[in-house]
Amino acid sequence: MGFDNAFEMAVSSIRFGKGVTREVGMDLAELAVKHVLVITDPVIRRLPPVATVIDSLERSKIRYTIYDRVRVEPTDESFLDAIEFARRDSFDALVAIGGGSTIDTAKAVNLYVTYPPADFLDYVNPPIGKGLPVPGPLTPLFAIPTTAGTGSETTGVTIFDLTKMHAKTGIANRRLKPTLGILDPDNTVTMPPEVAASSGLDILSHAVESYTAMPFTGRPMPDSPKMRPAYQGSNPISDVWSIQALRMVAQYLVRAVADTSDEEARSQMLLAASYAGVGFGNAGVHLPHGMSYPVSGHVKSYRAPGYASDHPLVPHGVSVILNAPAVFRFTAVANPDRHLQAAEALGANISGVKPGDAGRVLADRITWFMRELKVPNGLRAVGYSSSDIPMLVEGTLPQHRVTKLSPKPASPDDLAHLFESAMVSW
Ligand SMILES: NC(=O)c1ccc[n+]([C@@H]2O[C@H](COP(=O)([O-])OP(=O)(O)OC[C@H]3O[C@@H](n4cnc5c(N)ncnc54)[C@H](O)[C@@H]3O)[C@@H](O)[C@H]2O)c1
Ligand SMILES: [Fe+2]
Repeated sequence: MGFDNAFEMAVSSIRFGKGVTREVGMDLAELAVKHVLVITDPVIRRLPPVATVIDSLERSKIRYTIYDRVRVEPTDESFLDAIEFARRDSFDALVAIGGGSTIDTAKAVNLYVTYPPADFLDYVNPPIGKGLPVPGPLTPLFAIPTTAGTGSETTGVTIFDLTKMHAKTGIANRRLKPTLGILDPDNTVTMPPEVAASSGLDILSHAVESYTAMPFTGRPMPDSPKMRPAYQGSNPISDVWSIQALRMVAQYLVRAVADTSDEEARSQMLLAASYAGVGFGNAGVHLPHGMSYPVSGHVKSYRAPGYASDHPLVPHGVSVILNAPAVFRFTAVANPDRHLQAAEALGANISGVKPGDAGRVLADRITWFMRELKVPNGLRAVGYSSSDIPMLVEGTLPQHRVTKLSPKPASPDDLAHLFESAMVSW
């Protein structure tokens, strides 16, 4: 079996502008939608973005039902709650308003209600699930992000915590992509600074991971072109979006967290989330995300400031960025130039830096952002110790969809060393 020689860029449709949330009623009317399911979380439910959507639907005379029990960092159980709710009636469109947790829940509802699987894990990524393809087109889904962010409004991916496995996993298929992402800077103004910091660092890591991922030509040839995965490895088109997202993060992330009334910074971060989404949605992410899945799944008692949640959680962006410096110090030898280009896009001075120092320079630059944004200082600060490492390694091993895109393969021993060096960040 040889290597693949092709990649495919799956298009994402985006509308950006202050106030565009008001246009969603028009979009649904154009599709002659009769009854829409609005999906959100209990916090966003009480905030202006939902009121704006409801007003827009009423003006366009579109019947709606609201589901507002989305769980922050969703699980198989919380997905099922939403799916059961949606099955009780019939809907010909979905509108998701919230962060990645909400948009991902809406994608799962769309798939499981349209094509109910025989078993919950049928569509889930192998080796955890069967990875069955989505049989046909789904119902129109409009995604309105309130964080900046996961980029979920542009991707064909939905992520959840599989409770019995204590690790996240997901479903990846181009058909899950929202019909349209509606990016309205007014919707992120109420984000608590901790949510802005964590979701902004998620953008940073999406962009660096997709830019440094194994090239698409290093991935094995699929049995049939139909089986080419959504996460294909770095490629010339994703590169453009990922590197530009890093430049925007460098210029605007700290400003956007420090002052939520800074409309320019907020707007640019919302765009950066989608830029990185287009990049990683086609290229993929690698070890920082793969290693984050057991870090979020095994959380014991850590409670994140700024997150209104009734359960302990390590916010997604935090769980990812805590692993990132250790990973890039490890992977840089595979392609030092790309690691240096990413560091430079993030604002590091790379003049005179030797290829052998690329990993350290990139890691230091990321650590600078972590300190500036007051992220917990390492895995230890969110409740882990060295004795947890075997369990964290075990939870990373099945994450093939992403770990196999690492530019440098990581053995179980390598992963153990990476977790050890992520225990304390600075
Ligand atoms: N599908 C993908 O491609 C993809 C990519 C990355 C991450 N994810 C997933 O997305 C989830 C994380 O999503 P997230 O970081 O966007 O956060 P989130 O949806 O989990 O929300 C975090 C918290 O912020 C609050 N919040 C969100 N927007 C707000 C606003 N404007 N004002 C006030 N409060 C607000 C929420 O109520 C919640 O308490 C994780 O489950 C992660 O695995 C998915
Ligand atoms: Fe992410």
